[in-house]
Amino acid sequence: MTMRRVFVSWPLHDAALARLASRCDVAMNPDERVLRADELRAGAAGAFGLLTTLRDVVDDGLLASSGARVVANCAVGFDNIDVAAARARQVWVTNTPGVLTETTADLAFGLIFALLRRIAEGDRLVRAGRFEGWHPGMLLGRDVFGKTLGVVGMGRIGNAVARRALACGMQVRYHRGRPEDTACVSCGLDDLLGTADVVSLHLPLSPGSVGLIGAPELARMKPTAYLVNTARGAIVDTDALIEALQAGRIAGAALDVYPGSPERPDPRLFTLDNVVLTPHIGSASHETRRAMADRAVDNLLAALAGERPPNLV
Ligand code: DGY
Repeated sequence: MTMRRVFVSWPLHDAALARLASRCDVAMNPDERVLRADELRAGAAGAFGLLTTLRDVVDDGLLASSGARVVANCAVGFDNIDVAAARARQVWVTNTPGVLTETTADLAFGLIFALLRRIAEGDRLVRAGRFEGWHPGMLLGRDVFGKTLGVVGMGRIGNAVARRALACGMQVRYHRGRPEDTACVSCGLDDLLGTADVVSLHLPLSPGSVGLIGAPELARMKPTAYLVNTARGAIVDTDALIEALQAGRIAGAALDVYPGSPERPDPRLFTLDNVVLTPHIGSASHETRRAMADRAVDNLLAALAGERPPNLV
């Protein structure tokens, strides 16, 4: 019996791939490089399943030319996939929820510490040979303890960030979603923006979240408040953010994600000391990347067996 074919767009974890290869014919891009659209199309042609990353654009054209029946995205986000087109073609689309929650929350909270305690600035100062010994006024930041965190999007990751915040003695307010802890207080977005010392974004990218934080929203934030974005770059209007940072209308920002595909941080951000920038590493731990690959493979294996995949979006 001929095995069905699955195309894997990026060399994922060996053990996960071995599990997949035991049940189907795997064709894989062997290089750690995002495929061009024509290469993806060629690799995907005739495949029953595609294992993609968030850098692969899965549009109606690709779905039509490949004839794939399932697309397993190795990410919790799936804004790289035209889900409506997939639905119209009755193609299953899956993601990897749950397994990256704590890892992403760790990064978001690490960025909160980095911002309020000026850790990245301190690192730059020491490396530049500008640390000439302790003095009482050097690099004064803000305490995390006692501050108010505003979580926009209280889903899995938002809740995991809220849990860390409560453990650190912060108050937590949230907008959208459902809290696991009754200590978290629900409020409208304007109210949250006007009262939070740190606003942390945890929403998927959707028509309802694109540009959610623009000039009017930034203007509502306290001048002492910070913005953290580990969700998707396009949720924040970058021009408005840079303007607000330059004018001192907010105290600082930490960004792990940037708009555009490929994501490119606006170089004006590099000149701002009150900004911490990381390269989309929210889920980037060895353990989590392995779990994400396993989850994507589980979804493909279910589809290959004719079963409904566990993480249909
Ligand atoms: C996701 O999974 O959507 C993250 O942004 C990358 O791991």
